[in-house]
Amino acid sequence: MTTAAVRHFLDINDFSKEELRKLLDLAKAIKSKLKAGEETPLLKGKILAMIFDRESTRTRVSFDVGMRQLGGQTLMLTGQEMQLSRDETIADTARVMSRYVDAIMIRLLNHDDLLELAGAGSIPVINGLTRMSHPCQIMADIMTYEEHRGPVDGIKIAWLGDSNNVLASWVHAADIFGCTLNIACPEQYSPDQGMQADIANANGRIKVMRDPAEAIKDVDLVITDTWVSMGDLDANIRRENLAPYRVDETLMAKAKPDALFMHCLPAHRGDEVTSGVMDGPQSVVFDEAENRLHAQKAVLAWVFGIEEL
Ligand code: CP
Ligand code: NVA
Repeated sequence: MTTAAVRHFLDINDFSKEELRKLLDLAKAIKSKLKAGEETPLLKGKILAMIFDRESTRTRVSFDVGMRQLGGQTLMLTGQEMQLSRDETIADTARVMSRYVDAIMIRLLNHDDLLELAGAGSIPVINGLTRMSHPCQIMADIMTYEEHRGPVDGIKIAWLGDSNNVLASWVHAADIFGCTLNIACPEQYSPDQGMQADIANANGRIKVMRDPAEAIKDVDLVITDTWVSMGDLDANIRRENLAPYRVDETLMAKAKPDALFMHCLPAHRGDEVTSGVMDGPQSVVFDEAENRLHAQKAVLAWVFGIEEL
């Protein structure tokens, strides 16, 4: 999203297909340079504040390493150690941070707080996951699919399990890239109203189903995620209710023979996915994790106005 001169990266559906394609091309170019041992000091002198209100391995490490590889620096903060935890407002925090650093990447549950941070400050804000969406993850996912199988445009995807933040960003991407997306979930874990509205916009290409076998039939890409997202309190009940949606070898065999399996990680082996699928020949989960680094370096460059190498 571009507001006046400030470029935020808040959600996939703030972008057109052409803009996302440019970002993916930039990610590819940046990755090639790294693999060739060439430096890309695009953000020399820039400082990224990384604020984590919740746990993270991939997002934290890949943004930190990515910023350093781009010649910039990072500042690691947690909401708990900031005055945010003592009721300083998000808006005032945004105004103060804008005087010190060049951009903010933040992970926090409340999406409205993310929007408030972006609106009140004068520097770019990047969404590092909220309860509502996880756009950085989907950039890495698309990059990974395309490295293995070519353009993501028009492919058939199955999502199995909880209708969470990662799915919400995939709904955005599926709509933009003209993909068919079958969402298989029990009724009580169906998309919320916001996601339903996004689904309704997608010309019937995104469907919510109850039967995992029907959803997965002949798809190009199978995706799942944890049944217990950050902020969910009912872990045991979820495990019980979502058990029929576990991606195991039998279910995976119903997708196309060359279908890929993705998971944003961390995975809970034996819950949403078996080790056989996670470690099997169709799984690209660790490529996906690696591509968080490359895709986010493109996002970082983009928020500072750099669109190509
Ligand atoms: N996929 C993902 O965002 O992982 P982390 O929670 O470890 O950052
Ligand atoms: N849906 C998960 C993603 C973790 C990266 C969560 O929100 O916890």
